[in-house]
Amino acid sequence: MIVSLHSYIAFLALAVVLLAFINALNGFLTGREFQQKRDRSISLAGVAFFHLQFLIGVIVYFVSAKGFYALSEVGIGNLSSEARLLALEHPTTNLIAVALVTIGWSRHKKASSDKAKFKSVALFYGIGLVLILSRIPWSQWV
Ligand code: HEM
Repeated sequence: MIVSLHSYIAFLALAVVLLAFINALNGFLTGREFQQKRDRSISLAGVAFFHLQFLIGVIVYFVSAKGFYALSEVGIGNLSSEARLLALEHPTTNLIAVALVTIGWSRHKKASSDKAKFKSVALFYGIGLVLILSRIPWSQWV
């Protein structure tokens, strides 16, 4: 149940973070005004869905046999590459990614110019997105 939720919300979280990234990149490149209603809302939705997905992931980690259980059963050194992806690489990479997206969101609030706001979201959400996509268990997901 919680694993299915993690699986479905992943689509939504990735789509919203991608949208926020594209929107910020567009704003940065065109030099348009940062609109509180539109641009702030899209960026906020990105960080919020990503946090939600992260929290569900932490629960999945302790509920699924492929998370902490797998790690504690065989030990780090004996995990197969598939098992290592789920029990180690996916969670740690997403921890870094969620930290980056959060930094991008906080920095945009302190930025003094509209261009700097767009830059903060585009840069940090963009790097976060690349990290997440690099460690998605694609073969078992889609
Ligand atoms: C925040 C961004 C995250 C995204 C976009 C994401 C995405 C996914 C996807 C797409 C799957 C495959 C689901 C399936 O097979 O149907 C998955 C599985 C998994 N995720 Fe995440 N995840 C994230 C964060 C986390 C975190 C932070 C943890 C742990 C601390 C975690 C632990 C797991 C585990 C253990 C599985 C395997 C579950 C199983 O097959 O039993 N995820 N994740």
